[in-house]
Amino acid sequence: MAPLVDPFGRLITYVRVSVTDRCDMRCVYCMSEDMNFLPKRDLLSLEELDRLCTAFIGRGVHKLRITGGEPLVRRNIMSLFRRLSRHLESGALSELTLTTNGSQLAPHAAELAAIGVRRLNVSLDTLDPVKFRAITRWGDHAQVMAGVDAAQQAGISVKINMVALKGVNDFEIAPMLKWAHGRGLDLTLIEVMPLGAIDAERVDQYLPLSLVEARLADHFTLLPVDYKTGGPARYVRIKETGGRLGFITPLTHNFCEGCNRVRVTCTGTLYMCLGQEDAADLRAPLRASQSDALLHEALEAAIARKPKGHDFVIERTGATPAVSRHMSVTGG
Ligand code: 5AD
Ligand code: SF4
Repeated sequence: MAPLVDPFGRLITYVRVSVTDRCDMRCVYCMSEDMNFLPKRDLLSLEELDRLCTAFIGRGVHKLRITGGEPLVRRNIMSLFRRLSRHLESGALSELTLTTNGSQLAPHAAELAAIGVRRLNVSLDTLDPVKFRAITRWGDHAQVMAGVDAAQQAGISVKINMVALKGVNDFEIAPMLKWAHGRGLDLTLIEVMPLGAIDAERVDQYLPLSLVEARLADHFTLLPVDYKTGGPARYVRIKETGGRLGFITPLTHNFCEGCNRVRVTCTGTLYMCLGQEDAADLRAPLRASQSDALLHEALEAAIARKPKGHDFVIERTGATPAVSRHMSVTGG
């Protein structure tokens, strides 16, 4: 079948699929303390998720990221990974990966590696267990560390994703860099995005990475490299540590021109852009028939309206978020 190409000539080769909106943490920049989660009947079944991913792969998608919420809290999620691994074996998929908070990684790492997961991202914003609890509200730092250990022992490359939070972890970026690179982990810094209502003010959290980069340059030598993973990060190599550092800068530098990806929520809603409200329902065509004809029609119609890009601005105090849905809905 024909590959999916959007109106700006961008080939869609990367899909991120959220398998649950639930999480066993409540990060202050991601969720409010009392979140309302979707009723289970609204979620795509694991069979439907497999059909959906397979349809995308049939259209030329060769990189698949499983996200959430926290993907590893979805019951029986390993059966989805096991099924999807056939596309790694056939060569249709070049990469099957996930973004996780690490809490459930220790018991699953060996099986993920056996299935063919070679890289994964762990979200970790601090090395200080007390601060970790404050940021995640419910998280256990030691459990995440055990998860990172287990993934590395299983031979999976781990990348740490750290959201830069003003007044919270500004001074932990250099220590995190030394720790991560010291253990052979990549590190990527992310600007906080105005996604969904939270209990704090986004303006208070927002730390531009242009500033972080300038501060790091006082202590480290940042060498540009043209390493790409198919995601939005720009990478440098740190001369002193030998490791890689990525910057994801949706606010200070818009990277939409190279966008190759779309996202599907756990209810089968396709978002053509993380930063826009327009979406397409894929659950109805999935459920309407056992053949995938309607699904492919819906996919084509949706990609034909993929917007040029996002337009995040962190507004003054009290403003509503740029996009009303949380990251845990669309998937990280
Ligand atoms: N802005 C930036 N990053 C966010 N994440 C969750 N919410 C936001 C936000 N509003 C991050 C998590 C994780 C990834 C899935 O997205 O920390 O690394
Ligand atoms: Fe859970 Fe990740 Fe959101 Fe934290 S950022 S609450 S770990 S989904």
